[in-house]
Amino acid sequence: MAVLRPTALLASVLSLSLSVAAGLDRSALAKQHFGNDAPWYQDRIPFFEASDANLTEVYYYRWNIFRAHQRDLGAQGYITTEFIDDVSWQFFPSAFLDDATQFHFNEARWCRDRRFRVDHANFIYSATFDVRHFSENMAASVWNAYLVDGVQSDIIALLGGMTKVYNAWQSDHFDTSKQLYFIEPLLDATEYTIGSIDASCGKDGFTGGTGFRPSINAYQYGNAIAIANIAGLAGQLDVQRDYAARAESLKTEVQNSLWNSTFEHFIDRYYASTSCSSYWDFIRGRELVGYVPWLHNLPDDSAEFAQAWKHLIDPNELAGEFGLRTNEPSYEYYMVQYRYDAPTGLRECQWNGPTWPYQTSQVLAALANVFDQYPTAVAAGVITPKDYMSILSQYANSHYNKNRGGGLNIEEDYDGRIGAPIVGLDRSSHYFHSSFIDLVISGLVGIRPSADDVLDVNPLGVNLDYFRLEGVIYHGNEIAVQWDADGSRYGRQGLIIEIGDAVVASSTSLKRLSVPITRRAPPQPLTPIAKSIQLQNLAVNPGPAYPVGSVSVAGADSNKVQDAIDGRIWFFQQPTDTYTISHGWQTPTGDGSEVWYMIDFGASTTVSSGLLAFFASDTVGVPKSYRIEVNSTSGWQAVANPHTPAIVENGITWTSWNTVNTNKIRLVFTPPSGLPSRLVEWRVYSELVNGTVFA
Ligand SMILES: *[C@@H]1O[C@H](CO)[C@@H](O)[C@H](O)[C@H]1NC(C)=O
Ligand SMILES: *[C@@H]1O[C@H](CO)[C@@H](O)[C@H](O)[C@H]1NC(C)=O
Ligand SMILES: *[C@@H]1O[C@H](CO)[C@@H](O)[C@H](O)[C@H]1NC(C)=O
Ligand SMILES: *[C@@H]1O[C@H](CO)[C@@H](O)[C@H](O)[C@H]1NC(C)=O
Repeated sequence: MAVLRPTALLASVLSLSLSVAAGLDRSALAKQHFGNDAPWYQDRIPFFEASDANLTEVYYYRWNIFRAHQRDLGAQGYITTEFIDDVSWQFFPSAFLDDATQFHFNEARWCRDRRFRVDHANFIYSATFDVRHFSENMAASVWNAYLVDGVQSDIIALLGGMTKVYNAWQSDHFDTSKQLYFIEPLLDATEYTIGSIDASCGKDGFTGGTGFRPSINAYQYGNAIAIANIAGLAGQLDVQRDYAARAESLKTEVQNSLWNSTFEHFIDRYYASTSCSSYWDFIRGRELVGYVPWLHNLPDDSAEFAQAWKHLIDPNELAGEFGLRTNEPSYEYYMVQYRYDAPTGLRECQWNGPTWPYQTSQVLAALANVFDQYPTAVAAGVITPKDYMSILSQYANSHYNKNRGGGLNIEEDYDGRIGAPIVGLDRSSHYFHSSFIDLVISGLVGIRPSADDVLDVNPLGVNLDYFRLEGVIYHGNEIAVQWDADGSRYGRQGLIIEIGDAVVASSTSLKRLSVPITRRAPPQPLTPIAKSIQLQNLAVNPGPAYPVGSVSVAGADSNKVQDAIDGRIWFFQQPTDTYTISHGWQTPTGDGSEVWYMIDFGASTTVSSGLLAFFASDTVGVPKSYRIEVNSTSGWQAVANPHTPAIVENGITWTSWNTVNTNKIRLVFTPPSGLPSRLVEWRVYSELVNGTVFA
């Protein structure tokens, strides 16, 4: 969709290069928020602060989430996961799930290291399995990531994969008589909606309730626009025309058929008929999913559609005290609990009222689009940036987990009446099923990524005394945005935009600024993108075959042993009450004796360096001494010329030695006396890879 850009809004670039305001102390912030793991973040993330301390703290916590969910699959590169540990409905062995990929790309687009989003998109669109477990807007999300870095070759290469996934939906979820997509709410990743509960006559609603939903139709609209745009870049004009026409048709049908003027909302119409539901009838209430069309800028900018937004902030409708409700208290089965986890009796996920970070993220991103591209809606005045900020702040505060002592731990869904998580299973912690970084950068700070050679900033942080975001790479340039209401924080009143070392635009008030920007090649990823054999983690194995981990201790849990070579690293101290979600192999309590962890590669393998990640807490300590041994013709031998510095607590220890061929390698170590040690991850490389190269 072409974005109109009134030239009056273009601020002129100052010819005089004003000196940049004193920046943030990035090393101190990295140390403060990431401790010994700071080196991973230091050059990979933009740094941010705001006068609201919770927003600042949660911003960094969400980079923690991002890092924890980067799974190193060796030759296949990195993918981004949704759950902190395996769940039965994921794709094996990768742990890939498609429903939250929109958030994974939205967050990843701001990571200065491009490899994570590039690898993840390559994985998805070269998959040999059908990646569509749930509905998805992956093509649109990959396009949105492209808007930040501007590298065309990456996305052009994905075009064939994108059209394949698009057409798969068209072949099995498209009603040609209505020219709309339909889906079962469960496969929309949202069980127990109004549609599915009512289709069961109020008896259940886990499955069923298939309908023409705003979600999948808006997703396919966004995907079609993205495919058309990418085809345009690739010079495939027939494909471009085809997908632009599909998008246009979907827009018309969604607006004509899914808009319910009584509710002033986009709502489902039934596809499936049961004794309690009939084909093409509307469901009987507003749901948060009705805002998804704005996530992809689908609706026209009309005063009528703008009315939908007033229901978002009405406390009797979608605005809960501690978070947005997925549907309204007036619904007959609002918050009725139907489903429980069998082994624990804990309440399971439902979408009949709970607050979901998933849809809260979608709604906030949609709302930021409204403030940027819907002047008629903005003029209607039904919702303002203040509302955006209060929902964002409410959402940020929900990261302080009321069921886990107030520590930072985002879970699945929340009770909007009390602000506490509902499910609380082992799989629930540190859940990557939403965005936050993107809402800060493209909403609060307001960087609006564009395909044109322009930097648009439309800040929504109207209630803040100050904020500063720096170290963003946009179209290959280093940029920063700073706001200081009275000049007391940074010594300069107002809003400024910096490109490189120059202040290029400013305003005394918080308002939209737009400056031309030259497109440059982005910096190389810190780790060369995938497929560089030398930098591949040779030890990883998420699946059943080689390499295999084993330990010197009899009776060890084989899943935990395998965790230490599964490509995932995190050091969360929360929750402390269970070892189940902890990651890696934990030794018995140290008594002075040595233990070992061995990797059997299954074949002769060249090794010369490695990464060790050890957890530490009040009850777990790192080894005081260790050595690395390889199997040789004459048995186990210490590696030659070892570089084996002291083990870093909750961070990365880089080791190296003289290159050697072996079929097995082991880490021999002594846990501290009176405490166990926990090996979170061991990665091994064929060449020298260490903190300087970043793996
Ligand atoms: C909106 O949906 C309800 C059913 O929930 C229906 O009674 C009403 O007629 C619909 N409004 C319009 C304008 O179709
Ligand atoms: C910050 O979060 C804490 C914990 O949720 C909450 O008690 C406090 O009110 C929040 N502060 C602001 C300014 O929202
Ligand atoms: C290591 O052990 C195996 C037996 O498991 C042996 O056959 C092999 O040759 C040994 N040496 C090397 C360098 O891999
Ligand atoms: C990387 O390896 C080299 C060679 O062993 C060593 O001198 C250097 O200190 C290592 N860097 C880190 C961060 O471990």
